Amino acid sequence: MSKPSKVRLRLQPMGAEFEVARGAALQDILFAHGVEFPCGGRARCKGCRVRVIEGDLPLSPEQEKLLSPEDCAAGWRLACCGRAEGNLTLELAQWEAKVLADDRAFAFVPRDGLGIAVDLGTTTLAAQLLDLSTANVLAVRTGLNPQARYGADIMSRVSHAMADQGQARLERLIREEIGKLARDLLRSAKADPSAVREMTIVGNTVMHHLFCGVSIEPLSHYPFEAADDGLKVFSAAELGWEMPNARVRFLPCFGSFVGSDILAGVLATPLHDSVELMALVDLGTNGEMVVGTRDRMLCASTAAGPAFEGARISQGMRAATGAISAVAVKEGRLECHVIGDGKPRGLCGSGLVDAVAGALEIGKILPSGRLADGAMEMPLRAPVRLTQGDIRELQLAKGAIAAGLRILLQQWGAQPGDLTALHLSGAFGNYINRASARRIGLISSPREVVHPAGNTALLGAKKALFLAEDEDGAYRELRKKVRHIGLSEDPNFQEIYVEEMSFPS
Ligand code: FES
Repeated sequence: MSKPSKVRLRLQPMGAEFEVARGAALQDILFAHGVEFPCGGRARCKGCRVRVIEGDLPLSPEQEKLLSPEDCAAGWRLACCGRAEGNLTLELAQWEAKVLADDRAFAFVPRDGLGIAVDLGTTTLAAQLLDLSTANVLAVRTGLNPQARYGADIMSRVSHAMADQGQARLERLIREEIGKLARDLLRSAKADPSAVREMTIVGNTVMHHLFCGVSIEPLSHYPFEAADDGLKVFSAAELGWEMPNARVRFLPCFGSFVGSDILAGVLATPLHDSVELMALVDLGTNGEMVVGTRDRMLCASTAAGPAFEGARISQGMRAATGAISAVAVKEGRLECHVIGDGKPRGLCGSGLVDAVAGALEIGKILPSGRLADGAMEMPLRAPVRLTQGDIRELQLAKGAIAAGLRILLQQWGAQPGDLTALHLSGAFGNYINRASARRIGLISSPREVVHPAGNTALLGAKKALFLAEDEDGAYRELRKKVRHIGLSEDPNFQEIYVEEMSFPS
């Protein structure tokens, strides 16, 4: 008798249960449930681990190479290597990201019709539908960037785009997804698509090039130059979206890997109106930053790696149930807070920063980053522990950001104490404990000038919906005031980076 053509899949901890075609690739199925494939499914990163609770997923030699024998014995597998050949119950090591939207009020000049603002991130998308006469948000939608199945970070996206029609494929995927997001927004607000007049999209340089159809090739090699072609304007119709009166604008980038998400952040903070020295830092895998006043700005980007997001950390995970998200020192010991108050299953970015800050405080970690007792790991709350490798990953990430900011301030001719405001944007910037960030030396400005700034890219995209007619001219003027600094070209970069990798004593 032939086997049924469908098999049943159960996903934990979300409890989702559904049927799929027998033999379907788990990468395709799980991606739709919020699972990321950091290395693009090439069996190189372990980021897609799943544990088989019921059923059978065979181990292949490539999985045995990456997973420890203990993990294999406990049922852990790489989802990117597996197919649903029979009924399966799987525990996912990661699940859907919390995407940061924005609900702050701002000054605006009323306009007719509706507008849509989109923050196009490397991993996630956030979009809002606004009434342009009141600036009221009528609907919010968030989702995953469908390109993420081809790699989690911008450089793996660039390498996919460079191979065999990759750029066209990535362009089609993201245009379809944003069109779908717009349709969902309109449907949930019961709004007429013909009422949409404006749509603004912001994103990093790679997202910009991939959406706009600008060749990604110059971003694939030194000196990593972005195309300097200003505001990109489309009609919704040419993008295949059914909003007959909508103009779609992708805001311009600042240069190299500093994109229009940072330009939007400048509009949001608003750094471009400030007479006093301010900074905006996006603490992402690609750390982007800008320092300046309304007259002059310097910007840069730095590869910080994914440690702040809990990735490449031995028991790293998202800020979700079971994550140690905060650690405090009480009576000379580390006290861990676990999301959901249950048994811990991992450590998220804010917990990692707190744990290292606390361990420095009680002398368990030395300023060099070594564990004081010479061990290779220290327990946090069983079974979660902090390893020497985790501390090293954090040093690399915080060193890259701190060195970037230090060089920008130096080139400006200022000290960290001269900043009147330091805005930390992005999800991680919102949740990080500022005292811990100072303790590990990620930031050295006084705590009171450091502000969690939320999703500044989305707020800036919303503000841009209301900009006056000669918007292109306004962006040109703004971009003339911004100079891009190639950090690695600074003769002192290496020395500063190494210094910044140490922790303050
Ligand atoms: S090992 Fe990287 S996505 Fe599967």
